[in-house]
Amino acid sequence: MTAPTTTRTTGSSRAGQGDANATAGRLLRSAAKKSYDPDVDIDWEAPLVDGALWMPEHRVSLYGTGLWDRMTPEQRIELGKHEACSVASVGLWFETLLMQRLLKDFYADDPTTERAQWALTEVADECRHSQMFARLVRRAGVEPYGAAPFVHQLGKLFSVVNWGPAAYASILVAEEVLDRLQREQANDDSIQPLMRQVNRIHIMEEARHVAFARDEVTRGLAELSRPELAYQRFMCAFTSAFVVRSLINPKVYAAVGIDPREGRRAALANPHHREMIHFGGEKIMGFLDEAGMIAGPGRALWEKSFLLET
Ligand SMILES: [Fe+2]
Ligand SMILES: [Fe+2]
Repeated sequence: MTAPTTTRTTGSSRAGQGDANATAGRLLRSAAKKSYDPDVDIDWEAPLVDGALWMPEHRVSLYGTGLWDRMTPEQRIELGKHEACSVASVGLWFETLLMQRLLKDFYADDPTTERAQWALTEVADECRHSQMFARLVRRAGVEPYGAAPFVHQLGKLFSVVNWGPAAYASILVAEEVLDRLQREQANDDSIQPLMRQVNRIHIMEEARHVAFARDEVTRGLAELSRPELAYQRFMCAFTSAFVVRSLINPKVYAAVGIDPREGRRAALANPHHREMIHFGGEKIMGFLDEAGMIAGPGRALWEKSFLLET
C-alpha cells in the first residue's frame, strides 16, 4: 500500500474537493480575523506565582496512589509542573509531525486552492504553538522531555505511513486530548497564570485545526477501498496509542525522587490516570467511532491506550 502522490487528481472526487475548499475558505477567514502571536500576547517576563499549580492535582498521573500519599505538597506541585511540561514537549513533537504532513499535502496540491492555503496557515499556527510550548518549558526550568528516544525516532515515519483519514484522525486524537485538558484549566484560578494564557491561546487556534481535520476524516473515509480502510484504521490506532502513551515521559518521576520505572508502573495502574486519558479522548472517540474509524485489530490498541474502555 503506498501513499497517493498527489491529491490534485487522485483520491478525492470533484465534489469532495469543493467541500474541502469551502471548509478551508471559512477557516482562512477565521484565521485572518483572530490569531495570536505568543511573542506579544504572553508576558514571558512576568514572575511566576509561588505555590500555583501547573495542572489540576487530580490530573497528575500519580494522584490517589500510595506514592502520592507519601509526597509533600511541594513535591506534588513539582511533579505537576514536570508533567505539564512533558505534555507540552510531547505536544510540540507531534505538532512537528503534523507540520510535515501538512507540508506534504501542500506539496501535492494546487497551491492556489483554499485547501492548500489552509495547510500553510495551519503550519504557521503550529510553528507559533511549538515555539510557545518550548518557551513555556524553558520558563518553567524543566527539561524538554518529549517522547521516549525510540518513539521520537519512530516519529520520522509518521508522514510516510500516515496520510488521509488515518493521519488526520490521529492528529485529532492528539489535538482533542490536549484541548480537553487545557479547557478544564483555562479558567481555574489555582493554575499558574502563564500556563493558563498558553492554554487559552492554544484552545482558540486549535478549534480551527479540529474543524479541518474532522472534515478531512469524514470525507476521506467515504472514499477508501476496503483494504485501504483496514490499513488506515490500524495505523490510526497504532499512532494514537503511541502519542497518548508518550504524554507523560517516565523521567518526570525522578524530579521528585521516584524511580521512573516505579512511577510509570504506578501511573499505568492508577484508575485516576486512566480516567484522565479517557476523559481527554471522550469526545474524539465518539466522533471517530461514528465515522467508522474504530474497528478491526486496532481496537485492542485503543483499549490498551485507555482511550477506549475495555
Ligand atoms: Fe497546536
Ligand atoms: Fe493543531
